[in-house]
Amino acid sequence: MSTEPTSASQRQRPAKASAGAGRTPFIAGNWKMHKTVAEAEQFIAALLPRVAAVDGVEIVVCPPFLALQALVDSARGSQVAVYAQTMHEADKGAFTGEVSAAMLAEIDVGGVVLGHSERREYFNETDKALQLKLPKALTAGLTPILCVGETEDERERGDTERKLRHQVQEGLEKVPAERLPEVVIAYEPIWAIGTGRTATPEQAQEAVGFVRALVASFDKAAAEQVRILYGGSCKPDNAAELMALPDVDGALVGGASLDPAGFGAIVEIAAQGG
Ligand code: PGA
Repeated sequence: MSTEPTSASQRQRPAKASAGAGRTPFIAGNWKMHKTVAEAEQFIAALLPRVAAVDGVEIVVCPPFLALQALVDSARGSQVAVYAQTMHEADKGAFTGEVSAAMLAEIDVGGVVLGHSERREYFNETDKALQLKLPKALTAGLTPILCVGETEDERERGDTERKLRHQVQEGLEKVPAERLPEVVIAYEPIWAIGTGRTATPEQAQEAVGFVRALVASFDKAAAEQVRILYGGSCKPDNAAELMALPDVDGALVGGASLDPAGFGAIVEIAAQGG
């Protein structure tokens, strides 16, 4: 454990595969509330040899809190980083059930998913809280993955861009410009999460390109560096066409990340550039 927090982007290995504009592809598995510690250990034991030869892709698994320490230890020295699925914005305090950025950084967790639609919907995570969480994560040395995306109703009403603008602008508002390139953003249309309905390549490129333009309104250079992921029923059989899109730099994978073979296959597709 280091005393000086290092960001995941400082730790990452040099890239061979490349997403658009030289950005290193990024594949994250969000396990949600799946896998005991023993199951998590079995997964990582199966994944590490599968991805040992893969270079130039940032590979992340996001287990439940209880499995973080075990996976950090098992993945140490490998190309797989371990991220949390959420955190609280305060340093400490009377927030029963919550975990702070410093607590995650202390055990060498590399980053944290923030604002997943399930956290927003079931646990009242607000844009205002997220605005505080992003800089807090960065200061602690954690890479934040900010999740944004529209509901089916919002898409049908023509409100997709309005929703994305609001979520991206609120979420990034307090991130210092020089740290913007370290933020990862996941565009996850809510109607595609866990439904088996994937966005078409056109829909994904349009929305992710729009998100990149929103980042450019904060800082043009940062927008070229920020990794933007697609999420929502991403699987080995649709990953290639999504990964090949010019603005899509990787994927936030839910259901298909629970199986080491399937997740490893998505990582390999990213390594090949989609
Ligand atoms: P899914 O979940 O891949 O199961 O649709 C994606 C997510 O919620 O991040």
